[in-house]
Amino acid sequence: MLLEVENLSIGLNGREIVRNVSFSVERGEVFGLLGASGSGKTLLAYALCGLLAPPLRISGGTIRFAGETLHPGSHKQLARKRGRHIFMMFQSAAAALNPYMTVGRQIAEALQQAHRLSAKAALREAGALLERVGLRGDLISSYPFQLSGGMQQRALIAIALGLRPELLIADEPTTGLDAAATLHVLELLRVLQQQGMAILFISHDIRAVSFLATRTGVMHGGELVELGETQQLLAAPQHPYTRELTTAALPSATAQTPA
Ligand SMILES: Nc1ncnc2c1ncn2[C@@H]1O[C@H](COP(=O)(O)OP(=O)(O)OP(=O)(O)O)[C@@H](O)[C@H]1O
Ligand SMILES: [Mg+2]
Repeated sequence: MLLEVENLSIGLNGREIVRNVSFSVERGEVFGLLGASGSGKTLLAYALCGLLAPPLRISGGTIRFAGETLHPGSHKQLARKRGRHIFMMFQSAAAALNPYMTVGRQIAEALQQAHRLSAKAALREAGALLERVGLRGDLISSYPFQLSGGMQQRALIAIALGLRPELLIADEPTTGLDAAATLHVLELLRVLQQQGMAILFISHDIRAVSFLATRTGVMHGGELVELGETQQLLAAPQHPYTRELTTAALPSATAQTPA
């Protein structure tokens, strides 16, 4: 097992806003995390990357990654895994990219931090990675604002391709994208998985989760209320919230392709 989360709770000023969440992600598996807005998905992702900032903190439970206990442990231990081993695609691609730095420079710097590469080689590799995610290589000299939301997400996927982390946390990578851009991003994530990368795929799009994830957990009000094989879970939802989600989606919700 690559990631094992047990009874994880996140506290805020003495109140627990995420409670007793347990799930695991196998190597090379896409694990879907569904849940309404405010259910705690992003906080959970931050906790896994050591990105919770006071007053938010992990208030209980354990995180194990590749056999190593990351929590309880020093904050440094979690932070050390970030980037190279656990890479997070933030919910807002625009916020994840530095607006004052060219896309190529940002990809190149990430590569240089992870692998020993000269600046020139890293920039060359950045261009090649952009082409692999279906973007023009000459976009290396563009700034993030010159890219559409879908292109920005693909630039982040290019970084993930270059870093080859064991776990990619993709926090709602398709939110706000049109159908074609969504499909493109989902197909690229599938390519990453086929290369052996495990993905924690956070979304409230049931069709996207159905397309990618082998197993899925459902968050509701800070708790993981249901967990199972994705197709089974969507075909026979147990928790009222999951039932609501599946009936609210179009009849094709459990089909293999997203909108
Ligand atoms: N920095 C913060 N300080 C205080 N409360 C926070 C903070 N970040 C999130 N919260 C609260 O924690 C809860 C969970 O937030 P979180 O961002 O994890 O939800 P989410 O499931 O990712 O929602 P969405 O689908 O909208 O992204 C929310 O009620 C939110 O208001
Ligand atoms: Mg979120």
